[in-house]
Amino acid sequence: MTSPNNLTIEKTLCLIKPDAVSAGKIVEIITILKNDGFHIEKMKMMKMNNDIAQKFYYVHKNKNFFEGLIRFMTSNQIVAMILERENAIYRLRSLVGNTDSKIAAKGTIRNLYGTDERKNAIHASDSYESAKHEIKVIFDN
Ligand code: CMP
Repeated sequence: MTSPNNLTIEKTLCLIKPDAVSAGKIVEIITILKNDGFHIEKMKMMKMNNDIAQKFYYVHKNKNFFEGLIRFMTSNQIVAMILERENAIYRLRSLVGNTDSKIAAKGTIRNLYGTDERKNAIHASDSYESAKHEIKVIFDN
């Protein structure tokens, strides 16, 4: 698919995480995404179970934070979205900010709504391959 000026439209996967949902920040975060030009192709509210969380984050399964990450991600509802725009993967990563909310640049979503490196409010796919995998895990079941 191309935009009116012939740029390729990319898809990426975005999750509003349990901490941001509990804090009532869904609307504020979606407003930031829309104001930046993202189109929401699909959206659902869901609670990840252990199986989905492990599949989603399989690349981190040998990391020391994996267990804590799975516990956190299955602790409450999340909002999952397939977002579209030109250069979506890069643009969303820029808007989201550093994994560690404490050092995320001023004005990024993690700077505004995250707490630390685990409770960081939002997830954004880091590559085309990750986006493909993550969209399949969340929306194809
Ligand atoms: P996310 O972008 O969803 O990708 C992997 C997640 O693991 C990350 O956001 C954080 O929620 C979590 N994470 C990454 N690094 C750490 C860490 N050092 N300690 C705890 N959690 C982490």
